[in-house]
Amino acid sequence: MGFLFQEPIGREARPAWAEVPPALVAQLQELLKQKIIHADIAWGGYSPSATFVATLASWEKAFIKGTHPGQDTHGTQMLRQEIEAYQTLPDIQSFSPAYLGCVSDGREEGWMLAAFDSIDTLPTLPWTEEKITTVFRLLSRLHFCDKKNIPPALPPARDKNYIEKFLRPEGGWLRFRDERQTADKFLALFEDQDAGRDWLSSALPRLCEKQAKAHMTGGAVGMLHQDLRSDNILFDREDRAYLVDWVNACQGPVVMDLAQFLPAVSAESAFECGALLGLYEKISGVKIDRESLVIALASASGHMADNAYRAVPAKLPRLRWMQKSVLWAMLQWAVVLMDIPPPPRFTGPYHD
Ligand SMILES: Nc1ncnc2c1ncn2[C@@H]1O[C@H](COP(=O)(O)OP(=O)(O)O)[C@@H](O)[C@H]1O
Ligand SMILES: [Mg+2]
Repeated sequence: MGFLFQEPIGREARPAWAEVPPALVAQLQELLKQKIIHADIAWGGYSPSATFVATLASWEKAFIKGTHPGQDTHGTQMLRQEIEAYQTLPDIQSFSPAYLGCVSDGREEGWMLAAFDSIDTLPTLPWTEEKITTVFRLLSRLHFCDKKNIPPALPPARDKNYIEKFLRPEGGWLRFRDERQTADKFLALFEDQDAGRDWLSSALPRLCEKQAKAHMTGGAVGMLHQDLRSDNILFDREDRAYLVDWVNACQGPVVMDLAQFLPAVSAESAFECGALLGLYEKISGVKIDRESLVIALASASGHMADNAYRAVPAKLPRLRWMQKSVLWAMLQWAVVLMDIPPPPRFTGPYHD
């Protein structure tokens, strides 16, 4: 597989540099100790946050990211979480661009911008075995660092905003089981809704049985990124990889990162999740506990399923497309790992 569904036209509603208030620009220039000559929107990812690559008077560049008044999510809180991760994670500068500082207009729903070293990137896609190997090496360091190096201040997954839900036996497939109307809405994802209904009734018991154990997700514990996707992984011109967007950083079962990331790679490439897992195990030297992985996959796919069918948010035209693509890859893996029947076709448009 790989890019099964056609990408929708349209981009996220990110603000232009001209919208940044002059007082914030002045604060940034003070922080960076140079004038900003100009800045372009940095595209990538599926959020509406403000993201810029700024060119400085010295011709060096800085990456600037943050929240703005036009954003309707909990932007400020997310950016604070991310800055906290940069200040907490040990050795983060060895796998992420350096954090340079943060400025704000002091308003909770206002502007708050953080500055980072800008990476001169080459496109992450298409995935190749070399690139995946580089990322897996980096992830092994994150996931299997010496336990005593995990900072106590790094929140456990079960207490972390937006992440704790994956460790609770509720929502996702369990919601479809308990709420007939919600399950019916999910069927909108299928080309043939009757075939979708038949598939759901045969696959749901197994998916629910595994998701019901979400609070017992086990296996190796390490530092987690929890938003691993090609848009949060950068490669520079020396093929060095960097992880960015640390909003969800926490400590918890490593299978949580794998259950999200391997299907995300599979959705964008010709690699199957099973082959990716084999490569990850070879590189890390760690055998991943299958039952824990199955539980994490049931939970991750359930929550993805409970998002992918929803209406497309006006400011985020590509979000549901990405969710549908990753869900499809998750289900292909679930067919192999959980012995459920293969799902019938999702709605298109498909690539030729
Ligand atoms: N330090 C950086 N240097 C260059 N480009 C970056 C840097 N950090 C992020 N980007 C680019 O900007 C995009 C958005 O940044 P990200 O931190 O992921 O924010 P968002 O929360 O909007 O996803 C990324 O997908 C990547 O393409
Ligand atoms: Mg991102």
